Amino acid sequence: MSELAILGGAKTCKDDYPKWPVHDERDIEAVTRVIKSGQWGGYPYPGKETKRFIDSFLAMQGGNYGVLMMNGTVTMEVALRAAGIGWGDEVLVPAYTFQATAAAPMAAGAIPVIVDVDPNSYCLDPKAAEAAITDKTRAIIPVHLGAQMTDMDAIMELAEKYNLIVIEDCAHAHGAKWRGQGAGTIGHFGSFSMQSSKIMTAGEGGLLICKSEEMALQATSIIDCGRPHDAKGEMMTMGANYRVSELQAALLNVAIERFPAQAKQREAMAAYMDEALSEVSGVRVLPRDERHTTRSIYRYIFAVDPQEFGAENDVICAALHMEGIPCWEGYEPMNNYELFQPKLSKLPVPSAFPEHFKFDEMRLPVSERACEYEAVWLDENIFRAGSEGVDDAVAALAKIQATLSSDSGAVADIKRLLSSKTVE
Ligand SMILES: Cc1ncc(COP(=O)(O)O)c(C=O)c1O
Repeated sequence: MSELAILGGAKTCKDDYPKWPVHDERDIEAVTRVIKSGQWGGYPYPGKETKRFIDSFLAMQGGNYGVLMMNGTVTMEVALRAAGIGWGDEVLVPAYTFQATAAAPMAAGAIPVIVDVDPNSYCLDPKAAEAAITDKTRAIIPVHLGAQMTDMDAIMELAEKYNLIVIEDCAHAHGAKWRGQGAGTIGHFGSFSMQSSKIMTAGEGGLLICKSEEMALQATSIIDCGRPHDAKGEMMTMGANYRVSELQAALLNVAIERFPAQAKQREAMAAYMDEALSEVSGVRVLPRDERHTTRSIYRYIFAVDPQEFGAENDVICAALHMEGIPCWEGYEPMNNYELFQPKLSKLPVPSAFPEHFKFDEMRLPVSERACEYEAVWLDENIFRAGSEGVDDAVAALAKIQATLSSDSGAVADIKRLLSSKTVE
């Protein structure tokens, strides 16, 4: 058995994976065009580049109304505010996601209610969501996580039954489709992030798809310092400047040209990965829901059985990383984020909603399992490296499984390295 790279053996992956973001002369030309135009900022909204990007994005993703803004966190805050959701309202969010999904309701003055996820998709579990609904619940934010989608049929049924606003957090789901319909166009709002790591990026940026024209006008006013954007000029809001610059929009106009070919390749290689990974002992490939008709690969998540690997996800990811495979062990459960620790949030436990503020007492078994030992996240560039890139990742994982499951000394050595922080 070959020795693991983390313990001084040869690396599985000889070549580096392709870098992100991709750029070429077109990006330089796009930015130069904006610089020479003299219109760098986002005012008046929408600028020429901004409008062009929104139209192209809607043509790709579906939906009739889009508002481009600073990032994929304010998109959700703006959606909530446009829908009139704020002080004292409760918003359901999944426990397994980036903190932004819960920070956005807090910024709008609402209370995020943390709900566990489904073990097959790691996305919000509709049954757990229904159990958390109270007479204060006004909205739900399903996150389409990694390469998965939330069961949008079940979410829309809940929305109908309890009269909830649905904001799809599509930070990971550009191009994804459910029953042929674009992610972000099924609920009342779809929120997309264009931050650096995302599969369509300008460094920063966010796009909000709105189902109704009225909501889109409200959202536009909120991001444009409260100015009215309706035909009569009457619909003013309490807004601020959340616009993006034309420089960013110009980069997005190039990114969206490249996107279809990248997305197609990633999706094809993810199907190849599903097959290849299912041959590695101790790996659980997350099952594909057949209603999820187009998969978009931001991160490909699978689960490991620590018994069969002899180790948990942190050890496995550290070993994979040193084999040259870009990966991560994923988020922590939402209730552990600093955001909710009293020293930062300064949230006193109010008498009105005490159960929602006892973050240390919350039990979220599926999210905890995913975070603490089960989930492994693979980066998107593995899938842009073609079948050889996938083969290397699978070979590295098989080598790690074979070594760690038969050598507890190697596991102890890696743990020692991790605790001494000599590896990431
Ligand atoms: C699931 C999820 N939601 C929201 C966001 C927030 O996006 P942004 O960083 O553009 O504010 C992120 C991103 O980083 C994310 O991963």
